[in-house]
Amino acid sequence: MRKYIIANWKMHYGPIKAGAWIRAFRRERLPKDLDIGVAIPHISFAAARSSLGRASVPWLGAQNVCWAEEGAYTGETSPGMLQELGSTFCIVGHSERRLLLGETDEMISKKVAALVHQKIQPIICIGETEVQRKKGEASKIVRAQLTSALSGLKSAQGVDIVIAYEPVWAIGSGKPCEPNDARQMHEVARDVLKKKFGKDGETMRVIYGGSVDVRTVHEYVSTTAIDGVLVGGASLDPRAFGLVCRAASPA
Ligand code: PGA
Repeated sequence: MRKYIIANWKMHYGPIKAGAWIRAFRRERLPKDLDIGVAIPHISFAAARSSLGRASVPWLGAQNVCWAEEGAYTGETSPGMLQELGSTFCIVGHSERRLLLGETDEMISKKVAALVHQKIQPIICIGETEVQRKKGEASKIVRAQLTSALSGLKSAQGVDIVIAYEPVWAIGSGKPCEPNDARQMHEVARDVLKKKFGKDGETMRVIYGGSVDVRTVHEYVSTTAIDGVLVGGASLDPRAFGLVCRAASPA
């Protein structure tokens, strides 16, 4: 399985800075044995794409989508619109959206189904809070969130679905989850995927996110069951993200 390294800019970089980031990142020496994506604000797609030119790395993706194809959803962006923007993938259910913007399990499952229908790869984020971990509920939460997120699908319809295990307490905190603890949650996610999708569920990637940086990335990607990383803070500088990618390469 090729490792997947995704930058999540969150709400950083409008068109001007996004274009500059992509141009700088194109100068980085990037390993060929990884898949590399960058999740950017919708508003920055046109600038990022024109700065990318004919380069095929990194893939560009979105951070959110609406489940409906069109209609009275003020301020929202549909899967078809994401396709027009050139979005290869889309993050769904990030804990910042769940906790700060009121996104529910039901909304997330509808978004996942809408993306799969449009053949856009969903990156489905799941993960427990610190309180839930302390109560010993981490596996239960991860299993429930993932089961719910996939509940609108009968099959993967040929789409390479990706799961991102991101414990809420590790995001932006500088306190990453130990790779071995992450591995246990990845195994829970894998079990859900296999029960849901059979053989297809064996090859879908389960990646880790939460305070990953250049010093820690290698340990994650070399841990069994961790198929890549989602990188927030350490992706904001294109050179730093280039270093993360090189450190993640198995070569
Ligand atoms: P972080 O963010 O790397 O800044 O912890 C990860 C994420 O939220 O995807």
